[in-house]
Amino acid sequence: MNTSSTDVQRVLQQDNHLVHSFANLNELKQENSRTVITRAEGAYVYDGDGNKFIDGIGGLWCVNVGHGRHEIADAIASQLKDLDYYSTFYNLTHPLAAQLAEKIASLAPGNLNKVFFGNSGSVANDTAIRILQNYFNRLGKPNKKRILSRVGAYHGSTYMAVAMTTPAYREGWDSADHLVDFLSSPYPYRRPNNMTLEEFGDFLIEEMIETIERIGAENIAGFIAEPILGAGGVIVPPEGYHRRAWEVCQKYDIMSVSDEVVTAFGRLGHMFASKEAFDIQPDIICSAKGLTSGYQPMSATIISDDIFDVISEPGAMFMHGMTYSGHPACCAAALTNIEILEREDICGHVKRVGPLFETAMKSLEALDIVGEVRGSHFMMGIEFVKDKTTREAFDQDVNIGGMVAKHAQQRGLIVRPLGSMAVLSPCLILQEEETNRIVDILRDSIVATIEDL
Ligand SMILES: Cc1ncc(COP(=O)(O)O)c(C=O)c1O
Repeated sequence: MNTSSTDVQRVLQQDNHLVHSFANLNELKQENSRTVITRAEGAYVYDGDGNKFIDGIGGLWCVNVGHGRHEIADAIASQLKDLDYYSTFYNLTHPLAAQLAEKIASLAPGNLNKVFFGNSGSVANDTAIRILQNYFNRLGKPNKKRILSRVGAYHGSTYMAVAMTTPAYREGWDSADHLVDFLSSPYPYRRPNNMTLEEFGDFLIEEMIETIERIGAENIAGFIAEPILGAGGVIVPPEGYHRRAWEVCQKYDIMSVSDEVVTAFGRLGHMFASKEAFDIQPDIICSAKGLTSGYQPMSATIISDDIFDVISEPGAMFMHGMTYSGHPACCAAALTNIEILEREDICGHVKRVGPLFETAMKSLEALDIVGEVRGSHFMMGIEFVKDKTTREAFDQDVNIGGMVAKHAQQRGLIVRPLGSMAVLSPCLILQEEETNRIVDILRDSIVATIEDL
């Protein structure tokens, strides 16, 4: 749909009624502070003035199979004509919810065979914690409730998910703080005291053990972790970290919850990264985003048979559910999306093109203000610094990520500014030439930013 400039003005007027997410609402009152996206196709989006951009953030780390897949839209429409809605409450089910649950169980590692559907990553994570609480209550361990999370983590915006999210995300906002303890971020670039990477890995694990012994394992239900911290700065932990943290969980009877809201369904070249990329077998995996590639709002909390056995023991009631859990339209989107991922071997494509993208991105480290380029496959980030040698960060009032993102947008690329970073999580269908184009635009944008400073 082509949108005229009068239409764009009208949209902006109407938009004055919209409360934006994660936005400086005051700044949005200014003219020209918002971008109207009207159309999307493949790995590209178009604004209201007809400008074309590479969608460098894949919607919001979610449009894995790319925009404009009519096959998914048709599957949704056809399902809505057959069965618009029915719930999965009580003893009720419907064919696509059952089919999708079976499909996800077949893709998830090990004994993760039971699936609860929600409508967002936040709800998937809240669900995981509610299930763990119920599990330990049923086992007669009502004190086993605290959750270990990490500084830098992002687990969502619902009340429990935000409590597990890095404290920096809730200045001026309340959360269920009493339930969560934070461990250090596994952030190699900013590791303390000139430690070697090995020493840093040891430090993180020792800190985890000390924290568990201080609080008492009998009071801790679970450890929640993203395989690669996303919104916290695309942080890839030191080699072996996840395996060692998982072994600690095993030793202390602490449940391992892997937040794969971003990493599942292809972003790192696997349907699920926990086992295949990081060699852990979580007790719960939370997924959303790539499950439907964003075509419908849907999440899946995938739990082990062992947990299910306890929460489904005789007399137990599962007192949790949302009206739209397993909505038929969402299931249709997810099933078709997974079919596309498999048919087009998108994981194989990410495994081939991802490392080339990483290498091309790394070339940006030659630029003056680029401290580090990091990430894996189609999940990359650039950390900007004032001084490369000392790694000194830019002052808070220099919105360096925003400056680069603005230049990139003028050059046809949407990236996500994140404090001192620019983050990329493009659609997984990008070809090598397109990833090189992203890097070229970023190089020009960073050079232009340096000139502005
Ligand atoms: C790792 C992770 N977990 C959870 C969430 C929350 O997902 P949602 O925004 O769908 O609630 C996000 C969102 O970006 C995420 O990146």
